[in-house]
Amino acid sequence: MKRNYILGIDTSCDDTCIAVISESGELISNVVSSQIDIHSEYGGVVPELAARKHLEVLPTALVKATEPIDGLENIGAVCVTYGPGLVGSLLCGLSFAKGLSFSLSIPIIGVNHLEGHIFSLNIGRNGPRPPYLIAILTGGHTLIVLVKKMGDYRVIGRTLDDAIGEAFDKVARLLGFSYPGGPHIEKAASEADMAVEFPHPMSGRDTYDMSYSGLKTAVMNYVKKIDKKKLKYEVNMIARGFQESAFDTILTRIRRAVDEFKVKRWGIVGGVIANKRLRELANNLAKDTETELYLPEIEFAGDNGAMIALCGAFNLDRGKKDNLGLATYPNLPLCEKPSEKMFRR
Ligand code: KG4
Ligand code: ZN
Repeated sequence: MKRNYILGIDTSCDDTCIAVISESGELISNVVSSQIDIHSEYGGVVPELAARKHLEVLPTALVKATEPIDGLENIGAVCVTYGPGLVGSLLCGLSFAKGLSFSLSIPIIGVNHLEGHIFSLNIGRNGPRPPYLIAILTGGHTLIVLVKKMGDYRVIGRTLDDAIGEAFDKVARLLGFSYPGGPHIEKAASEADMAVEFPHPMSGRDTYDMSYSGLKTAVMNYVKKIDKKKLKYEVNMIARGFQESAFDTILTRIRRAVDEFKVKRWGIVGGVIANKRLRELANNLAKDTETELYLPEIEFAGDNGAMIALCGAFNLDRGKKDNLGLATYPNLPLCEKPSEKMFRR
């Protein structure tokens, strides 16, 4: 029997994601079942509800994802996110993947969700050739990373407090929008003819680290000061001011890193790069600096199983296999895993 296909599963947060790729990396199917309806009324993800929904949806998502390959018999490996993420959510995907690994007698490969996002640039095409620079902008992480080669990463900057996506979600809530806030802020900002001026936290400092909590607080203080009746007329201007400051914070650092590290190719991945204004600003920066920019297709900006399958397949090729003892690791960093550090020494 030929087992030509690889399965990728991600349940790190509030999307139930299963994808199938071929041995050569071609995308066969990509099922993403969103839980927005469940969490939007709470203004953020409720971990227990997210885990319960994953349990309910995983079996049908698997059936749907494996329809084009006529079921499970042709699957040769299962790749699954084991961190970082919400522990209950991670446990659902990991346990499900272990069940598949055991019952089909196929290898299981644990994937780091952040490394998975890096591979979103390789879905259905060749990604940038290393070395390159990449910014990972999600609801839980904000990282600027040098990719020396695939699998060899150096984090040069990170948020010291809130992640950029988290700031979008929190500011959206302040402005009366539901979760997730990013698309609401983007729409409101695009309808504004002016922008409220907000600070650009930690600008002018000699670091690639960032802070988004200060910006969120500045918006909060502004909202508190204005008359509630006036707020509805200012929402769009506030959204635009916040969005411009949030994007300027990351793009000024990328510009500096491009100079310092003589970067020729760079990319942005993660849910926040679904934002068209950020895509436009990033394209402008690439033109200005005469560098090559890589962005994922919008459908692969957010969480998906395809990036997990590609990343897992890459690691499988390099001999990485896990076993049924694999545990979740909710705070898993992109690199600097203690075991890897020890290995390098
Ligand atoms: O990568 P992702 O889907 O999940 C995590 O790994 O966290 O990122 C989700 C984040 C949320 O904070 C969401 O508000 C943000 O991405 N986001 C956006 C947009 N669409 C999603 N932020 C700004 N503009 C958008 N259009
Ligand atoms: Zn993600």
